[in-house]
Amino acid sequence: MPPRIWRLALYAFSITVLACLVYLKKETKTLVSPAGRMPDAPNSRRMFWAPGQTGPSQCLPNLTIANSSLALPELHRLFLMYRHCRNFATLLRPTRCSQETFLLLAIKSPPINVDRRIAIRNTWGKEVTIGGKLVSLVFLLGRAEAKARGHSLRQLLAYESQEFDDMVQWDFTDNFFNLTLKELHFLRWFVTDCPHARFVLKGDDDVFVNTYNIVEFLAELDFKQDLFVGDVIHYARPIRNTKVKYFIPESMYKKPHYPLYAGGGGFVMSRRTVQRLQRAAEDTELFPIDDVFVGMCLAKMAVTPVKHPGFKTFGIQRPFNPFDPCLFKELMIVHKLTPTEMWLMWVLVKDDSIRCALSVPHSYRTG
Ligand SMILES: *[C@@H]1O[C@H](CO)[C@@H](O)[C@H](O)[C@H]1NC(C)=O
Ligand SMILES: *[C@@H]1O[C@H](CO)[C@@H](O)[C@H](O)[C@H]1NC(C)=O
Ligand SMILES: *[C@@H]1O[C@H](CO)[C@@H](O)[C@H](O)[C@H]1NC(C)=O
Repeated sequence: MPPRIWRLALYAFSITVLACLVYLKKETKTLVSPAGRMPDAPNSRRMFWAPGQTGPSQCLPNLTIANSSLALPELHRLFLMYRHCRNFATLLRPTRCSQETFLLLAIKSPPINVDRRIAIRNTWGKEVTIGGKLVSLVFLLGRAEAKARGHSLRQLLAYESQEFDDMVQWDFTDNFFNLTLKELHFLRWFVTDCPHARFVLKGDDDVFVNTYNIVEFLAELDFKQDLFVGDVIHYARPIRNTKVKYFIPESMYKKPHYPLYAGGGGFVMSRRTVQRLQRAAEDTELFPIDDVFVGMCLAKMAVTPVKHPGFKTFGIQRPFNPFDPCLFKELMIVHKLTPTEMWLMWVLVKDDSIRCALSVPHSYRTG
């Protein structure tokens, strides 16, 4: 396409998304108030048009590593050259994190995934109180990778952040190899900006979370004790095939197995574990696979991640019947769903007239 048509198409797209956002915000307001999350003081609100951003945070590549890693795939080289860069500026942050938060849903979302964030805000990620326990939502973002779309996307994010006040964004490129940086920066943000939340569910923006089941599961657990629950993998072997996304050369990880870790699609932690994880992460060299990195930190802390069958972060067996409400009433987290599937699940999970034979087994309620 000629560039002008491309630009026009981009504007049309941006305007449509903006219109949707405004419309949905109106909808949410009428649904969720009065616990609205907008700050009261008008002057504390950010400007709609993002002020000109400064250049990316300065951290120079290690050229010795650049020379010694020529045999590795380009992304691995890039990762190693920049591995020592661990401090990036915060570009957007919520104005507050409620002291009463029982469960904080912290969802990794690349800037471009506006549609997924909209679906989550309106389904399982809604700010609600379940049995007196407040559930809050925050999205974790890096910088958009594609240079061409950078500017309008930045405006859109500034607007989205002002409207919903639920996004933290840092000044590093949002890509697979930088997810560990996102983990590290999230842990720091939690410790400084959201220290009162009792539990955290950390997940991807393509998961479906049965918020009710999670809150019920956590209700009797102690946030002052260590707790780490998810889809735990034992004796996973590093992948040595260069063609696979998760390829790790022996020069980066020598042992035959990874430590115990939980699939990064979604896991739950207590406040105490998040705080300890932050300290452990500060002393751990970055690793390209973020869930393995968390596993390495847990091993240092001598915390054993607990496996729970309700966490299906590697997806559930397909084909499944998405109209079977009982399927999702039993589960805590399911990975790899489209926004449409999310809406559908949510409608079914919320419908109390649908009864399933089983409920969450109580025997799993151990820390
Ligand atoms: C670059 O990496 C090498 C090898 O890991 C290390 O010895 C050296 O100190 C690093 N240099 C800088 C400037 O960080
Ligand atoms: C890296 O290799 C280039 C070309 O071989 C060389 O000029 C340069 O000095 C090397 N740099 C380091 C830091 O080893
Ligand atoms: C991670 O982000 C930083 C800052 O944007 C960038 O310099 C680096 O190349 C990224 N790492 C990878 C492996 O893409």
